[in-house]
Amino acid sequence: MTQLKWWQKAVFYQIYPRSFADGNGDGIGDLRGMIQRLDYLQDLGIDAIWLSPHYPSPQFDCGYDIADYTDVASEYGTLAEFREFLDGAHRRSLRVILDLVLNHTSDQHRWFLESKSSRDNPKRDWYIWRDGRDDDPPNNWNSTFGGSAWEYDPQTDQYYYHFFFKQQPDLNWRNPEVRAAMWDAVRFWLDMGVDGFRLDAIGTIFEHPDLPDHPVKKSMIELAAARELATTPAEREALAAEWEAMFAYQVEQPGMHELMQELRRVVDEFDDRMLVGENEEIAYHGNGHNELHMVFNFPLMKTRRLTPEWIRANQRQRLAELAAISPDAWPCNTLGNHDASRVKSHYGDGVHDDELARLHLALLLTLRGTPFLYNGEEIGMTDLLLQDIAQFRDQLGVWVYRSLTEELKLPAAFALRRAAEVSRDRARTPLQWANAANAGFSPAGIATWLPVNPNYAQGVNVADQQDDPGSLLNFYRRMLRLRKATPALIAGDYTPIHEEATDYLAFLRRLPAAEGPSCLVVLNFSERPQTLHFELDAVGVRRLFSSRERGSGHDDLAQLYLGPYEAYIGELVAA
Ligand code: NOJ
Repeated sequence: MTQLKWWQKAVFYQIYPRSFADGNGDGIGDLRGMIQRLDYLQDLGIDAIWLSPHYPSPQFDCGYDIADYTDVASEYGTLAEFREFLDGAHRRSLRVILDLVLNHTSDQHRWFLESKSSRDNPKRDWYIWRDGRDDDPPNNWNSTFGGSAWEYDPQTDQYYYHFFFKQQPDLNWRNPEVRAAMWDAVRFWLDMGVDGFRLDAIGTIFEHPDLPDHPVKKSMIELAAARELATTPAEREALAAEWEAMFAYQVEQPGMHELMQELRRVVDEFDDRMLVGENEEIAYHGNGHNELHMVFNFPLMKTRRLTPEWIRANQRQRLAELAAISPDAWPCNTLGNHDASRVKSHYGDGVHDDELARLHLALLLTLRGTPFLYNGEEIGMTDLLLQDIAQFRDQLGVWVYRSLTEELKLPAAFALRRAAEVSRDRARTPLQWANAANAGFSPAGIATWLPVNPNYAQGVNVADQQDDPGSLLNFYRRMLRLRKATPALIAGDYTPIHEEATDYLAFLRRLPAAEGPSCLVVLNFSERPQTLHFELDAVGVRRLFSSRERGSGHDDLAQLYLGPYEAYIGELVAA
């Protein structure tokens, strides 16, 4: 336990700056708001913050289009306020990692403006410029956010490449000057005391150097629509393969490991910092010590329904792959972020949403590995489906709406509903601080940047939950404290038991005897109560935690009772 690094013991909490807390009352979250809420975060019991981009940006992709890597967006505050936030966090023993967007910059970044200005500008090669084919783009590649991946620039009569929106031109990472400039920005923040980075979109950094056409004939929206309408597994598989082929030359190309090693050397110039990759490719751990410290276990978040069988298979595969890399390769789990559905919406069934939110938190905090939470999940915020296309801020939603109405000629009402479901706005609405106008996020009468979810008035807000011992917020607090106080939940191994069970998931988190007691975790994924018989090398089990608030006490391993959707954590009493 003691030899574990801080980021192995920590629970991270993602702050989405635009939506977290509005300190100056303009309808947009900011650093002042974050500073004011540091006590809240400390009290919640998290250990580290991942801050989504806080840099100057035209905000076409909500900050993932960076116009200056070494400053702060003026609507969020100043560099001095950032330092105040960082110091305030550190004083409360909260670490802070930033979002590092390597793949692309904003089209308003001065690097791109220079690059664009003429074909012989010294920064021309910092981005990916190519001649077209007659009147067409250089090849048939798509942007993952829709349309061609190439944008024509009449001034220099060439196209530039963008994997994401055209406002996000891809950097040319084969150019050493790009690397040097970005590593300078990395050092700028590490020098200031930032504890590490979450790496955005690293799988898309390199493209196939020959730019070959992909073989898929359907348009992207046709393929996406066909995938949704597919009815048989064979059909779904074939379409998934087509999708993969469509992007095959644009993702996971050679060169990444060398690049990650270079970045790791920069980060290792500083003491005790870390990198976590937005990518599920386990290979980015390198040899376990020379690339990323962690990569997210995204399948856990991306799977529609988590069942005990599925989780066991996921853990078996994931932990085996990590072990093959190095005994030190460390897992990292999350159930939600600013690109995904809210935990309560995603894992809820419409009837037992509250129980399921608790059960899934218990899963996240008891699996082996570092957990990442997303702001607002602790009060059970849910997805908000926008009702009017004018409210959309996520341009991906806007693109879906336009494609469905204009390209596929589908009815506007259907397109709106579908766009609202796909749009990432659904999980980015302002944090609900109180049962007050604008959910206490901004003063009454101010238009918030995205509408506030009206369910703040039904108890989904911090103030109402704060003093209610039965609230989800207090459940999060208790579980976070329990995890911190229970070494087996942090350092213990993961040993699945009762592997045939389909209603519940049971596993041990075992520690060597000298390091403390091992834990038994049982999560009932069903509505049915269970009375379970465990044959373990222990005389009994001491109840540490029950999501049904059964207090502490001793339980009989020969007949361990679990209520519907109960999460149970006990400490094994050695023979
Ligand atoms: C992944 C980020 O999480 C997402 O929000 C963003 O749109 C893309 N990368 C592009 O930066």
